[in-house]
Amino acid sequence: KYRGIIFDLDGVICHTDKYHYQAWKQVADQLGIYFDETINNRLRGVSRMESFEIILERYDGAMSEEEKERYTAEKNEIYKELLKNMSPADLAPEVKATMDELRKRGLKLAIGSSSRNACFILGQLGLDGYFDAVSDGNQITHSKPDPEVFLLAAKLIHEKPEDCLVVEDARAGLMAAKAGGMDGAGIGDASDCELAAYHLKSFEELLEACNS
Ligand code: BG6
Ligand code: MG
Repeated sequence: KYRGIIFDLDGVICHTDKYHYQAWKQVADQLGIYFDETINNRLRGVSRMESFEIILERYDGAMSEEEKERYTAEKNEIYKELLKNMSPADLAPEVKATMDELRKRGLKLAIGSSSRNACFILGQLGLDGYFDAVSDGNQITHSKPDPEVFLLAAKLIHEKPEDCLVVEDARAGLMAAKAGGMDGAGIGDASDCELAAYHLKSFEELLEACNS
């Protein structure tokens, strides 16, 4: 049924939530802004600057664009340092085995991530060069829920959007898939999302979704 699978990275292939949280927390603390895990969950799928704007909802003062650039850059430095803790051991065996099986069935595999650290993360996980294409935050101007990142992924694997399935853990990502004319499979936090064509309780269930 599908010819290509486009995977979101953070929250689907790996779990970087705690690193994003720790890095944003340091910045928020400096600014005296209240920040917790619930607010952190709202940052899923959202770009770096848009994430900061959400954090700034609880900031009283005004902030110039230059300052925003400085704080987001600082967050990224802290985050990148934390990402060095990631290793191939952080790639769940069932995730790798499922992707290998999908590839064996002839499906093309791509990444569609809002992150500008996607290639670094893939390297840490030992997935350098594994995907047929990587579409990420460095190549787009509109982040999810805009479909740009997924449309680019489909283009890079030379498949029509309607022949691709998007795997996402964020509502914004499932909205993006739908806007791009692609079916979505929700996993993790988004597994119950009504926008998803498939509601995955585990990564392996993707094999059934691709059979149906
Ligand atoms: C997404 C994450 O994958 O990437 C978001 O779900 C994050 O939480 C976004 O804000 C941007 O990431 P980065 O690595 O470019 O700061
Ligand atoms: Mg995600």
